[in-house]
Amino acid sequence: MQIKKVGVVGCGLMGHGIVQVAAQGGCEVVALESEQAALDKGLGRVDRSLAKLASKNVEKGKMDQAAADAWVAETRGRISGTTERGDLADCDLIVEAIVENLDVKKELFAGLGEIAKAEAIFASNTSSFPIGEMAAASGRPERFVGLHFFNPVQLMKLVEVVRTDETDAEVFEAARAFGAACGKAPVSCKDTPGFVVNRLLVPYMVQAIDMLDRGDASKEDIDTAMQFGCGYPMGPLTLTDYVGLDTTLFILQGWTERYPGEPAFKVPASLERLVAEGKLGRKTGEGYYKWDGDKKA
Ligand code: CAA
Ligand code: NAD
Repeated sequence: MQIKKVGVVGCGLMGHGIVQVAAQGGCEVVALESEQAALDKGLGRVDRSLAKLASKNVEKGKMDQAAADAWVAETRGRISGTTERGDLADCDLIVEAIVENLDVKKELFAGLGEIAKAEAIFASNTSSFPIGEMAAASGRPERFVGLHFFNPVQLMKLVEVVRTDETDAEVFEAARAFGAACGKAPVSCKDTPGFVVNRLLVPYMVQAIDMLDRGDASKEDIDTAMQFGCGYPMGPLTLTDYVGLDTTLFILQGWTERYPGEPAFKVPASLERLVAEGKLGRKTGEGYYKWDGDKKA
């Protein structure tokens, strides 16, 4: 079961990175967006990221300029974009990276189930929802996995590969092999809330936000403490801005609704307020911090 052609649905923060690493891994990739403007934005990000990686390789002496230019052209040449779902019909694998909303994802997979070839494997990049529910909606639960990449996809080396009780063993192995071809270390996970990373990471982010909301310490001090005290690359409030406050809120709302008795899952007051104000983090220029493009303002 070889994955040669990949469809990626959603070309936002995560989707554009998945498009890129799949192409870097040698696959032909079709990116599907709901609107042309969003597609252009996502593919523009791919262009900037490829240029950055190429110039770093030249700086480090890993490639000369001609080889770097050829690598960019070859990788980009494997990527195309579309706003027509039907263009994914002959893909071997379709990875979903749209908004963290279970109903919207289920509806998407039900539609994909109608148009994709029978052998195609489906995968969701969900941060928190049950893979089994989307698998059931797709009409092909045995050919369904979770493929959970990390932000920024181009730099983070992990992919969680999630199986349900119904996932076919060969499908699971093909998904792990695809993750490895994308340059990631695959870890196997069961279909549990947040899999491994988010089950640990999101409650930690909640604790940091609660600490800020109580006035126990400033956001800068909380972040500095975890960066220098624990050696984390960024503090939890910077990380929340990085992930997106909307995505973080959707994860927590889904969990508090589904597991009301779990004390690790709660929605902090400031998270709800900032999202209502449209302050979604780095992507909108303000969240817990103000941002100027990729850097803090
Ligand atoms: N493509 C290419 N290059 C990129 C890039 C991209 N997408 N993003 C950043 N870079 C480059 C930067 O331009 C920079 O280049 P220069 O050195 O030439 O300036 C270089 O990579 C390093 O970036 P930064 O200067 O921003 O500095 P950094 O050393 O802090 O590295 C980081 C950035 C890798 C993001 C690091 O801060 C980090 O690991 N942060 C934690 C991220 C994390 O925890 N992610 C998981 C989030 S949770 C999740 O994803 C799951 C979920 O479901 C919510
Ligand atoms: P995002 O808002 O940046 O991107 C979502 C994209 O999907 C948008 O560009 C939107 O136009 C597009 N879209 C929405 N509905 C669509 C449809 N029906 N067809 C085609 N395109 C559609 O969100 P994101 O941060 O990239 O998150 C995407 C998924 O990845 C979510 O499930 C999220 O939980 C998960 N995830 C996010 C992170 C993170 O750090 N942000 C990390 C890992 C996983």
